[in-house]
Amino acid sequence: LHDITEQTLLQEEKEKQEKLLVQQSKMASMGEMIAAIAHQWKQPLNVLFLMSQDFEELDELGELDDDYKKTFIKKMQKQLEFMNDTIEDFRNFFRPSKEKIAFDVVMGIKNILHLLKTQFKSNSISVNLTIQENSNTMTFGYPNEFKQVVLNLVNNAKDAYIGLRESGLLSKSEISNIDINIENINNFIYVHVQDYAGGIKQQVLDKLFEPYNSTKGEKGTGIGLTIAKTIIENMDGEISGKNENGGAKFTIKLKISET
Ligand SMILES: Nc1ncnc2c1ncn2[C@@H]1O[C@H](COP(=O)(O)OP(=O)(O)OP(=O)(O)O)[C@@H](O)[C@H]1O
Ligand SMILES: [Mg+2]
Repeated sequence: LHDITEQTLLQEEKEKQEKLLVQQSKMASMGEMIAAIAHQWKQPLNVLFLMSQDFEELDELGELDDDYKKTFIKKMQKQLEFMNDTIEDFRNFFRPSKEKIAFDVVMGIKNILHLLKTQFKSNSISVNLTIQENSNTMTFGYPNEFKQVVLNLVNNAKDAYIGLRESGLLSKSEISNIDINIENINNFIYVHVQDYAGGIKQQVLDKLFEPYNSTKGEKGTGIGLTIAKTIIENMDGEISGKNENGGAKFTIKLKISET
C-alpha cells in the first residue's frame, strides 16, 4: 500500500511539473509573439501617422478636395485591414489544437514564417524554405503546436545570429541565413532547420532537450526545446539537433499521413 501511495505521489508530481513547463513555454511563446506583433504593426502605424499629418497640413491650407479624401480613406482602410489580419493570425496561433488532424507541414511553416517576416527582415535574417520535388508533406498531429516548435527553432537561430552580432563577430548589415529543407525518405517527412551562427555550446549539447538548459540568461528559460520534443513525440515523431556546417542543425522526423 505504501508503495502505491508513493507511486501516485510521484506521478502527480511529474504531471505537475509537466503542466508548469507547458505553462511557462506558452508564456515564452506569447512574449515572442508580442514582439513579432509590435514589429508587424510598426510600419502601418507609421504610415497612418504620416498620413494624418499630411491630412492636417492640407486641411489647414484648405487644399482638401474630395478626390484626396477618398484616396485617403481607402489607404487608411488598407493599413487598418493589414493590422487586423495580423491580430487574427496571432489569435489563431494561440488556439490549442483540440485533436489530432491531418495537416500540411509546409502550410504550418509558411504560416509561422509569415508572422515573423517583418521582425526577421529588420534583423537582416533571411529564412529560405526549400521543398524537395514531389514531396508528400501531409502529416497527422497538432498543427498549432507544430508551429510553436518551428517558432522556437527559428527564434533560437535568430538569437544565435543576434549573439554573434552583439559580440562583433558578425556585421550588422550582413544577411544571415536560416535554411529550412523538407524531404521525404521512405514514409517519413524530414524537416531540417539549419543556421550558420556558430552552433550549440558543448555544455548545452550534452543535454539538449532537458529543461532549464539555457545560455541566454534573463532572455531564455531553456524550455523551448523540451516542449518541442514533447510536442513532436506526441505526434509519434522525433526531433534531434547537432552542430554542422558552422551552425546548428535541427531535424524533425514525422510520419506521412495515410489519409
Ligand atoms: N540554433 C542554435 N544555435 C546555437 N545554440 C542554440 C540553438 N538552438 C538552441 N541553442 C542552445 O540551446 C539552448 C536551449 O534552447 P531552448 O530553445 O530550449 O531554450 P532558450 O531558447 O534558451 O529559452 P526559451 O525557453 O525561451 O526557448 C539555448 O539557450 C542555446 O544555448
Ligand atoms: Mg528557445
